[in-house]
Amino acid sequence: MKYYIGADLGTSALKLLLVDTDGNIINTVSESYDVSFPNPGWSEQNPEVWWSALVDGIKKLTVGIDVSLISGIGAGGQMHGLVILDENDNVIRPAILWNDGRTFKETEYLNTVIGKEKLAELTGNIAFAGFTAPKIMWLKENEPENFGKISKIMLPKDYINFRLTGVHSIDFSDASGTLMLDVENKKWSSEMLEICGVNEKQLPDLFESFEKTGTVLPDILEELGLKGDVSVVAGAGDNAAAAIGTGTVIDGKCNISLGTSGTFFVSSKDYALLDNNAIHSFCHANAEYHIMGCILSAASCNKWLCEDILKTSDYASEQLNITDDKLGRNDVYFLPYLMGERSPVNDTDARGVFIGMRLDTKREDIVQAVLEGVAFAVRDNFEIAKEAGVNILRSTLCGGGAKSPLWRKIMADVLNIPIDIPSAEEGPGYGGAVLAMVGDGIYDSVSQCAEKFVSIKGTVEPDPEIVERYNERYKKFKEIYPAVKDVFKLIK
Ligand code: XUL
Repeated sequence: MKYYIGADLGTSALKLLLVDTDGNIINTVSESYDVSFPNPGWSEQNPEVWWSALVDGIKKLTVGIDVSLISGIGAGGQMHGLVILDENDNVIRPAILWNDGRTFKETEYLNTVIGKEKLAELTGNIAFAGFTAPKIMWLKENEPENFGKISKIMLPKDYINFRLTGVHSIDFSDASGTLMLDVENKKWSSEMLEICGVNEKQLPDLFESFEKTGTVLPDILEELGLKGDVSVVAGAGDNAAAAIGTGTVIDGKCNISLGTSGTFFVSSKDYALLDNNAIHSFCHANAEYHIMGCILSAASCNKWLCEDILKTSDYASEQLNITDDKLGRNDVYFLPYLMGERSPVNDTDARGVFIGMRLDTKREDIVQAVLEGVAFAVRDNFEIAKEAGVNILRSTLCGGGAKSPLWRKIMADVLNIPIDIPSAEEGPGYGGAVLAMVGDGIYDSVSQCAEKFVSIKGTVEPDPEIVERYNERYKKFKEIYPAVKDVFKLIK
């Protein structure tokens, strides 16, 4: 028996799992950290915080474990974040994260001057503010000194992999979200690099997610309290890793994640470019492809409402009074755009909105509106995929929001599909462990291993009556953003 560490480098915490070669979770640890918002709509984190969380977390994870059995590490990580290193491999400035909206000018330039068609031809995608390429362009314009020092550009999980192994690596799934990868042909796009003003030497080497990139360096082994040869795989963007961890590896299978962000991910055997490009077309961690829609605030909306506004961490009690008869009958609506919005509206100025309150509106109506607003925003992405001919018959659900039975039900009824709950809720970390096992030769393929490990512990079926009520509500929800869109510009 051997053990593998799966890491999920999230926005609010680093979650670690110790998994054996039969897929059993032996131990889990979560190390929380903060995001800094230095300006409205900006979002940054210091990579050193991730590293400290990894060191502390691995020490806690391995208490009472025979560490000589630990043979590999695989990480899924928050995507798109810009990490830049100087010629001595020191971090130049805090990482600019996936939900940072400062690059609206660069994004606009890319989509209008370079043009969406050209971008799609080069990368399979159009520009969104959170993507890495517009961040590099922002840095060039606004922090030329820092830009001039760049020796390596990488994404968040690549930084912890680099600290572990000394190797500058990136995998295809995460590289897809830089807007510098030619996704179809799995190589850097020289034209995109030129547009960003960088060269290929400044980028890490490209790997499949399950490929071994190196082993943990001797001094780091000692720092972590590990022993022997511990291999490290390239890992994946957190959504691709979550897809592996939820068994979303077969053509057409769907996974929805309600984490800090909300994503809707459909696995695809072949490169899939949707006409409108409002949804991303990326590489998958099983060497195939996927499409994905991403809303910037999902479970984070509920966390914000409960913890920052209502001052409670007892989320379940807040949802107790929201009984089935209330679903689809709430007159309060919520636009969940607390950090601006990515797919499909692509608007960095958008903000959260409650509308429809009356004197008899109760606390639980507001809580319900938040859960529903997130579900409607996910549906916006769903509808786009449907229009493009992607037929989604059911989905797994993972992430912090999946722990709420009420939210599971709302998702099933708003989307009108059965929602499957996988037994391992820790999607990206579990996926990271699968990648590590494949990289170490324990299993032949990611899909084979994921299919062997992942089981479904329950399914929430949609209720036709509630579905009907939500269809009516969704029509109204769709009218809100266009009606307030211009106001966002006034109040910014
Ligand atoms: C996906 C995205 C988010 C982050 C969250 O495109 O930006 O889901 O990966 O960690």
